[in-house]
Amino acid sequence: MPKTEKSSMSWLLRVIPWNTTVVLFALAVTAVLLLGVHYYMEGLISIGTLFLIYQYTQMLNDPIEMLGDQVQEFQKAKSGMLRSRELLSMRSEIEEGKEEQLPQGPLGLEFSQVHFSYNPDKPVLQDINFTIKPGERLGIIGRTGSGKSSLSRVLLRLYNLDRGTIRVGGTDITELSLQALYRRVGMVTQDVQLFDGTLRDNLTLFNSDVSDHMIKETTDRLGLSQWIDSQPQGLDTYLAAGGASLSAGEAQLFALTRVFLTEPSLVILDEPSSRLDAATEGMLQSAIDQLMKQSTGVIIAHRLATLEKVDRIMVLGDGKVLEFGAREELASNPASHYARLLITGREEELA
Ligand SMILES: Nc1ncnc2c1ncn2[C@@H]1O[C@H](COP(=O)(O)OP(=O)(O)OP(=O)(O)O)[C@@H](O)[C@H]1O
Ligand SMILES: [Mg+2]
Repeated sequence: MPKTEKSSMSWLLRVIPWNTTVVLFALAVTAVLLLGVHYYMEGLISIGTLFLIYQYTQMLNDPIEMLGDQVQEFQKAKSGMLRSRELLSMRSEIEEGKEEQLPQGPLGLEFSQVHFSYNPDKPVLQDINFTIKPGERLGIIGRTGSGKSSLSRVLLRLYNLDRGTIRVGGTDITELSLQALYRRVGMVTQDVQLFDGTLRDNLTLFNSDVSDHMIKETTDRLGLSQWIDSQPQGLDTYLAAGGASLSAGEAQLFALTRVFLTEPSLVILDEPSSRLDAATEGMLQSAIDQLMKQSTGVIIAHRLATLEKVDRIMVLGDGKVLEFGAREELASNPASHYARLLITGREEELA
């Protein structure tokens, strides 16, 4: 049954019993009154008795209304239950593999003939091929909508590929268990997800094994302790879900710390496309440098400053690789996209 039909059915099921009780009650009151008036006219009952009969029928009103409410609640609960059952019976399209082990240390990454689309009629990634060695940093640039974030999503198995293979540390990601993948690969997304809770809860994702000492050590290393100390109650500062209380740059600093605490071997960083102030940008840059020291890095860059530290650069356009190469080589080739970008210095071209 189509969804709209289903919901209008459940609405009818809820409304009909309630309306029926109202109508029946009104009919009953009318009948009682008519009969009462008739008996009074006949002289069989006094006006006092008639009033009493009317009072008694009114006293029935509340319980009947309550009953109607209960029926309504019951119907709501029933449709809720059916919906939960539908949800619980949903199965993810992502099937995880069995492999648990990945090599120690930074992990290499390989995309081989990767094709991906959200909807079959609109390809988002087309024939993506590249390799980065363990410990290397790749900077990805491209206009908005070119498929940069999508590339990071398929790498984390948020979607299945249409075709092709992605290997992390030499293992096809479809053969890995999701836990093994997430334990070693960290991602900082463009929009940082925050939960209702303290800064500490949000950093550790409610994992009480992470001590304040560890947080302090990490934030010291990232150069963020000052930022945390400047929050009204330090680690106990309350953050509202949705992240309205943090600026785009702060949210990224925060997300970097969160990922850093998991000590990943491959980090994917999707920079915010909005402009940051110079101080936050500086902090963000040194935090990124620190984070990438012990891991392989894929940085989706929106700022030229980030690209200065990468080993390789990929330019994406309409889901295809327009350019891929060592940063220095591309910089010295005046015909390359990257060199043109350096000359114009127009960061907005990255966005
Ligand atoms: N969840 C989705 N469902 C359907 N289409 C999507 C979805 N997410 C992105 N797209 C489409 O896929 C294409 C690539 O989007 P993507 O988010 O990867 O771009 P991007 O390069 O990260 O852009 P930006 O620089 O603005 O972050 C776009 O055409 C976009 O409209
Ligand atoms: Mg994006």
